[in-house]
Amino acid sequence: MGLVNITGKDVKLIMVGGKGGVGKTTCASAVALKLAMDGRRVLVISSDPTPSLSDIFEVSIGSEEVKISDRYELYGLEISSDVVLAKWKERFGDEIYEVISSFANVDYDFVDYVGTAPGIEEEYMLSFIIELVESGKYDIVVWDTAPAGHTLRLLRLPHLFLKHMEAATKFYMNMYAYLERLKDAVRFKASKRSLLEIIGSWEALSERIVEFIRDEKLTKYLIITIPEALGVKLTERVIAEFKENMLKVENIVVNYVVKEADCEFHKMRKAMQQHYLDLLANTYKDTNLVILNLTPWEVKGMERIAGISQALFLTP
Ligand SMILES: Nc1ncnc2c1ncn2[C@@H]1O[C@H](COP(=O)(O)OP(=O)(O)OP(=O)(O)O)[C@@H](O)[C@H]1O
Ligand SMILES: [Mg+2]
Repeated sequence: MGLVNITGKDVKLIMVGGKGGVGKTTCASAVALKLAMDGRRVLVISSDPTPSLSDIFEVSIGSEEVKISDRYELYGLEISSDVVLAKWKERFGDEIYEVISSFANVDYDFVDYVGTAPGIEEEYMLSFIIELVESGKYDIVVWDTAPAGHTLRLLRLPHLFLKHMEAATKFYMNMYAYLERLKDAVRFKASKRSLLEIIGSWEALSERIVEFIRDEKLTKYLIITIPEALGVKLTERVIAEFKENMLKVENIVVNYVVKEADCEFHKMRKAMQQHYLDLLANTYKDTNLVILNLTPWEVKGMERIAGISQALFLTP
């Protein structure tokens, strides 16, 4: 049991995940504040369908980046699905239309239809965030992800865009096979960028993203869990899935741990938690487990967030 360790000087992205209500946004905020206090220029992003950075920092945060501290270079962004999809359409709409309309007779509205394919949002979020990271506007980006289900979906890599193109056309066609047949036709379209070029650029993008999030020097993962059966089970699944995708989780925060028990109720809770803490410690011997105690108050405002930063990084 130790402290959060994300100190690599090259770290550019920190992804915070875990099941609903375990304290993801709280921890993401505390990590972001700590990094900003260390003098870094930090952006904390929430892509949760019900974002609550605004509530925690008690500052209005929306779909444009805003500074959320007078003293530190700390910025926030809460991005809703609508905005994500609009940005996605802006970025890929024309390309998708160009590809699909070359073999099917469809209106531009078809792009919206593709946008409703499950997972598009999360996948595009990754691309959007990596672009932000690479823009150099911030030293580090902390991403408070949506509850675990979405995180898992997001990890179904690679070639994400292509896969969705296939699914979304609903013609059950194999895009590659189709393209093979199109190849010759495409070659004659001298004036236009070839379809293969467009699709190739999507592939290159998805590969770049995968490389980025697999690079242990650039991306760190912080999984938040609770010392209860459900939390432990879900964490197991998340970590297994991360592993399958060659992503290494170095830190697990166990939140809501009862520190002192001076009544029967809390004694029982503490004993129950201890069981799961032992289980976690045995299961994740190579992972840094960090205990975060349950506080008597909810975490709201800079001072309390700073208290959580302290607990995560400073007090053993
Ligand atoms: N260690 C703690 N002690 C006491 N309260 C806490 C602690 N950690 C988080 N909380 C409180 O628990 C609630 C849920 O936390 P938070 O919003 O960070 O969870 P979340 O995982 O982001 O939830 P969601 O999945 O809904 O986004 C908040 O009211 C927060 O203030
Ligand atoms: Mg949250």
